[in-house]
Amino acid sequence: MCGIFGYAGRDNAAERIINGLKRLEYRGYDSWGVAIADLDSEQINLVKHTGKIGEVSSEKLFDTTSTIGIGHTRWATHGGVTDTNAHPHYSTDKSFVLAQNGIVENYQELKSELISKGYEFISQTDTEVIVRLVEEELKTAQDLHEAVRQAFLKLTGRNTIIVLEKKNSHIIAVRNGSPLVIGIGNEEIIIASDTLSFADRTNKVILVENYQMVEYKNGETKLFDVKENAELKTEIIELDQADTKVEKEGFDHFMIKEIVEQRYTINEAVQYTLDELNPLLGRIKEKSSKGGQGKVYTVGAGTAGFAAMQIAFFLRKHANVNATELKAYEMESYKNLFTPEDTLIAVSQSGETADTIEAIEFAKEKGTKIASIVNMLGSTITRISDYKYFSRSGAEICVASTKAFTAQTAWGLLLALSLIGKYEEAKKVVKDLSQNLESFFEGNDFSNIKNLAKKLKDQEHFFVLGKGQNFVASLEGALKIKEITYKHFEGFAAGELKHGVIALIDQGTPVFGIISNDENKADMLSALAEVKARGGFTIGVAKENNELFDFFIETIEGHEADSIANIIPFQLISYFMALQLGNSPDKPRNLAKSVTVK
Ligand code: AGP
Repeated sequence: MCGIFGYAGRDNAAERIINGLKRLEYRGYDSWGVAIADLDSEQINLVKHTGKIGEVSSEKLFDTTSTIGIGHTRWATHGGVTDTNAHPHYSTDKSFVLAQNGIVENYQELKSELISKGYEFISQTDTEVIVRLVEEELKTAQDLHEAVRQAFLKLTGRNTIIVLEKKNSHIIAVRNGSPLVIGIGNEEIIIASDTLSFADRTNKVILVENYQMVEYKNGETKLFDVKENAELKTEIIELDQADTKVEKEGFDHFMIKEIVEQRYTINEAVQYTLDELNPLLGRIKEKSSKGGQGKVYTVGAGTAGFAAMQIAFFLRKHANVNATELKAYEMESYKNLFTPEDTLIAVSQSGETADTIEAIEFAKEKGTKIASIVNMLGSTITRISDYKYFSRSGAEICVASTKAFTAQTAWGLLLALSLIGKYEEAKKVVKDLSQNLESFFEGNDFSNIKNLAKKLKDQEHFFVLGKGQNFVASLEGALKIKEITYKHFEGFAAGELKHGVIALIDQGTPVFGIISNDENKADMLSALAEVKARGGFTIGVAKENNELFDFFIETIEGHEADSIANIIPFQLISYFMALQLGNSPDKPRNLAKSVTVK
């Protein structure tokens, strides 16, 4: 979703900002803009375009080598994808420019007030309302700092802004909701949406909290509490650089690189000692098992929501814990049910998903303790959690999440089995799966999956059936394929088939069945038999072939982690089918990696 990147230092700012925006590309965007303050002429030069930054070079954009500026990648919310709506936006007198991440929820009323005061609007964005509001505040405020502060306090919704003034070597950024971090480099400062964007420059970071303002002026950086208007102390933390690599490393796309990386990332996710797990294990044991009344909820959205479902499944199935999965964006009916005895486990790759953060806030208000399994270091969800765990998968750049899902669910399996004293067994199960994946990927040309992708690419409707441990895999498998093939893939519990879904099965309709050698195998085979009897094209995703399968995909042995292993064929099908269809696997249409607005 939108990305902010501000730079002040010794280097050519345009070059640094373009590089930073490219490193933010993975979040998803449809237009971009760069504004550079030429301090000699006291002018701001602004370039904004729709589409991708591509190979744009700073020299072609600007004839200045200024060392201060800001940039933005926009994922349209209010107003179409046009050059005019792209950020940053100039103030009327061009004395400053402003960009925003988020949504100004009260923009309509603010806009009407400003129009009645004579302000004119050039774009259709909610962001331009903030620009005009700052202009209005400047009429009475003593300086830009105060005008921005006053304007910011009038906004509702989750929004983070960055402002560049044409003089004073001056950048102001304020956070509420959408992420903001400061990178402290060698005689340079970067104010950005995430630490990945400047990981090539520095690992020294200041985390900005909601309602905090960063002000860089004439070489000095200060942090303020916006509501109190008080200066705050800053704390610089050092992040682990190994977690921030963003290279394709010889692969054609980030997606296939990240799929193949699962041979070791799932194992990384379970490298927690019992001492490190014990605070959460103790809490769950005390409050939610052994007669405790506390519930365990798991929560997330999209793929992370499915990981949350799988973690709840593991907790119920293996540890007899009363665990319920919640969708972050459907929390209303649960709001009043949370108690201080409950534990909410939040699952997120980015740690910045607005829906998930809001769900955590609801639970926190009721005194519920928050645990989280997040991939991005220093992210918001981690900071607001009582029990913090990282999935340690390294940067996941492809919009479609793969390695984060398998890492988070592997961690969930570790948690569930550790609750019943099977910590070592859990680690062995994941390690074995990791080794099986190593052999699976070794020299594999994926010809079977490529053939299937080729065979099915012109179909429009597909179904995926799963049961028990493989139910979530059917949902996540279908989501993965939808996201990058743009085909209608639907995951169902196999049990649902006879209750309605079977009406959709026609001659040749492709139906996948995910089958482990477990107590549900017979039911799964019956479901595929019923599909086949109605002319459907059955694809068995299983350990061994069966006469009921029209096509067979052999799965990787995972034992208790079968549900994790079984997602990998679907990741591969989605990748190879997207290539067949000429789609971009890394940047699917309409999607953003980090969904920081509701
Ligand atoms: C995954 O493929 C998706 N792009 C999306 O569903 C994602 O999982 C969801 O938006 C949640 O993101 P998070 O893990 O960063 O919280």
